Amino acid sequence: MNTAEIERTVALARRLPKAELHIHIEGSLEPELIFELAQRNGVTLPYASVEALRAAYAFTDLQSFLDIYYAGASVLLHEADFYDMAWAYFERAQADHVLHAELFFDPQTHTARGVPMDTVIQGLSRACADAREKLGISASLILCFLRHLSEEDALATLEAALPHREHFIGVGLDSSEVGHPPEKFVRVFARCRELGLRIVAHAGEEGPPDYIWQALELLQAERIDHGVRCLEDPVLVAELARRRIPLTVCPLSNLKLCVVPTLADHPMRQLLAAGLCATVNSDDPAYFGGYLNENFEQLVRALDLSDTEVLTLARNSFEASFVGDEERARLFAALDRATSPPG
Ligand code: ADE
Ligand code: ZN
Repeated sequence: MNTAEIERTVALARRLPKAELHIHIEGSLEPELIFELAQRNGVTLPYASVEALRAAYAFTDLQSFLDIYYAGASVLLHEADFYDMAWAYFERAQADHVLHAELFFDPQTHTARGVPMDTVIQGLSRACADAREKLGISASLILCFLRHLSEEDALATLEAALPHREHFIGVGLDSSEVGHPPEKFVRVFARCRELGLRIVAHAGEEGPPDYIWQALELLQAERIDHGVRCLEDPVLVAELARRRIPLTVCPLSNLKLCVVPTLADHPMRQLLAAGLCATVNSDDPAYFGGYLNENFEQLVRALDLSDTEVLTLARNSFEASFVGDEERARLFAALDRATSPPG
């Protein structure tokens, strides 16, 4: 593609309405807000300044990121902190034309520090309600279990969250992948399914394709978060395509956590070519160098994506979202309006 065509495709990607389905809300905590909350709450940080903290964002793998990410979340203590964090994300999401967002949150990161479950969920769900009312973004919450902790801890976390059942639509599985396969969490996910919760799981980010099989077969995951390593197993790719199991892919995350050496090596085009319902997402935008539109823009530039591929990605995000039929029709209609010629 020539330069003018690339710029046109980038502009298209930026202005299209989309859904974001893989965003850890704690990963949207910008260094400036970390320092503001630290001061507000009297928390001492092991970094002298915003610049010193940002300079520490040089990751070699998932674990090197998670260590800093959990340290950053330590400034979150009160309901207003959770609200302010989520609200800052929604304002950025609106600027990127996000019409619908499904936010991951990690309650164990907070309850382990003595923050009540109620504080976490109230702050986040109040921000979701305001996003709907004031920004026109439909938003919901997905509670994630930390896979480096035990299944007993996950079960206790689920029980503690159940009084707030109306505030989250589903559950996920995140944190250190390798060594913590989905099979470790079979019982807690079975209980979640009984409760009518939607099921997602991180798998195939750093972990092998077998973890994706486990997420599908043992947890009955309806979507796979990341999933990029599925390409190593053609039978798995065929199964994901046949069942139209969406993958919530996070290009800048994959780059910053060294899942791919450069963005030009990113497998997004192969995922689409295999007929998979792949989507673009930001994962932990404050840590990985960009929110949703930045992910789209850098991916388009690195892979020379076509207008058709960009449209497919936007469409996939609505197809993959956990909204009802009426809401999905509204989202698709917005996409049709944005792509139909004027007049
Ligand atoms: N928690 C926050 N971001 C994550 C990621 N990319 N993988 C696993 N756990 C996470
Ligand atoms: Zn993630």
